[in-house]
Amino acid sequence: MPDLFDKCRGDGGYFGFLRTQNDLYYARPVLDGVPGPHMKFHGKEVIMWAINNYLGLAGNEEVRQAARKSMEDWGTFTPMGSRMLTGNTDRHIGLEKKLAAFLQKPAAILFNYGYLGVMGTISALTGPDDVIVMDRLCHASIVDGTVLASAGRRFRPFKHNDLDHLEHHLKAANRQRKGGILIVIEGVYGMRGDLADLKGICELKDRYEARLFVDDAHGFGVMGEHGRGLGEHFGVQDKIDLYFGTFAKAFAAIGGVTAGEEEVVRYIKYNARTHVFAKSLPLIYVDALEASLNLVENHPEYRDRMWQVAKRLQAGLKALGYDIGDTQSPITPVYVPTGSAQQAMAMMKLLREDSGVFVSAVSYPVVPRDVAMFRMIPTASHSDEDVDLTVEAFKKMRDKMNLDLSQKPSLRNR
Ligand SMILES: Cc1ncc(COP(=O)(O)O)c(C=O)c1O
Repeated sequence: MPDLFDKCRGDGGYFGFLRTQNDLYYARPVLDGVPGPHMKFHGKEVIMWAINNYLGLAGNEEVRQAARKSMEDWGTFTPMGSRMLTGNTDRHIGLEKKLAAFLQKPAAILFNYGYLGVMGTISALTGPDDVIVMDRLCHASIVDGTVLASAGRRFRPFKHNDLDHLEHHLKAANRQRKGGILIVIEGVYGMRGDLADLKGICELKDRYEARLFVDDAHGFGVMGEHGRGLGEHFGVQDKIDLYFGTFAKAFAAIGGVTAGEEEVVRYIKYNARTHVFAKSLPLIYVDALEASLNLVENHPEYRDRMWQVAKRLQAGLKALGYDIGDTQSPITPVYVPTGSAQQAMAMMKLLREDSGVFVSAVSYPVVPRDVAMFRMIPTASHSDEDVDLTVEAFKKMRDKMNLDLSQKPSLRNR
């Protein structure tokens, strides 16, 4: 008789070959220290390029102080219960107002994790008569939100950033239209670092009377003069119906926010299952987030420094012949042809052990099977020396492993 747990004993499932070895080096690596440009890995100091600490706010003293005070006042547990019942406070409402003002939207709703925010927003708004039209490269939380929504039965993925394909789906959805249409995209795409063609998508959504949800997890705090994200970057913030950002990246905290029209946000507050049926965000985070928001708003120099680091790193890698695709953000994907997953792991090990450079690798299906992608996140807290040592490490790897960099592997994954 098959047993439910049989699958756990073999090497099936995600990264099964690493799981069976209880590997803590390539998958689930154990890191030591406060997140920042220098951390410890297996007892050795490494330059860290794998954490989305874009503005360098992790460990910031003002945020720590706000959290310490909140901890003294409220402990780690306050408030108890969901916002719907006993977990609502003036401080939650106040932070939502500040976030709405920052994002230039009438209203905002807090979620405990970005993941829950995306899932909750999409699933609250879409029902069996509605259609979701989604960029094929969207994050797992968007896919899961679509599955959770009954609209999961009526969802249409379009080729990444391909406006003709999006229009094709919008036309088809309009022909059989019974309800609304929600276009779902990321702002800055978290793996490739390229940007949604937001102006074109906004035009299409107006033409076909659809609504637009932008998951700007990687653009929130990062893009635009004031860090308001990709809408600000392209000057179309007012066209985005629902703007979503997570606090887990540039804000170096936890939680997420959806901002939009007053009545729509209120509807989400009452209907998003991941909000209604979850304990409210503890005040220690609410207070720390207020401090982070202040820093994001009032310190444009953090963004300037982040861009300096990103440009120096991207120019250095390109000069060595590495293919970094068409990133237009700090996210720096390095595409390298490989013969096997083992070879990709050997490269990662070489960078970590020989040069003390920590990068994460991304594998199939995000990239083709014979390509490894090292996704690097430059931050405001990296120094020029960190960048130069890292570029030198990639030079050593290129030469030691005889990498043929004449190919352009990123192009094979359009
Ligand atoms: C595009 C995107 N959306 C949503 C999330 C989920 O956010 P969180 O980590 O805050 O749950 C992530 C996290 O990686 C993301 O990259």
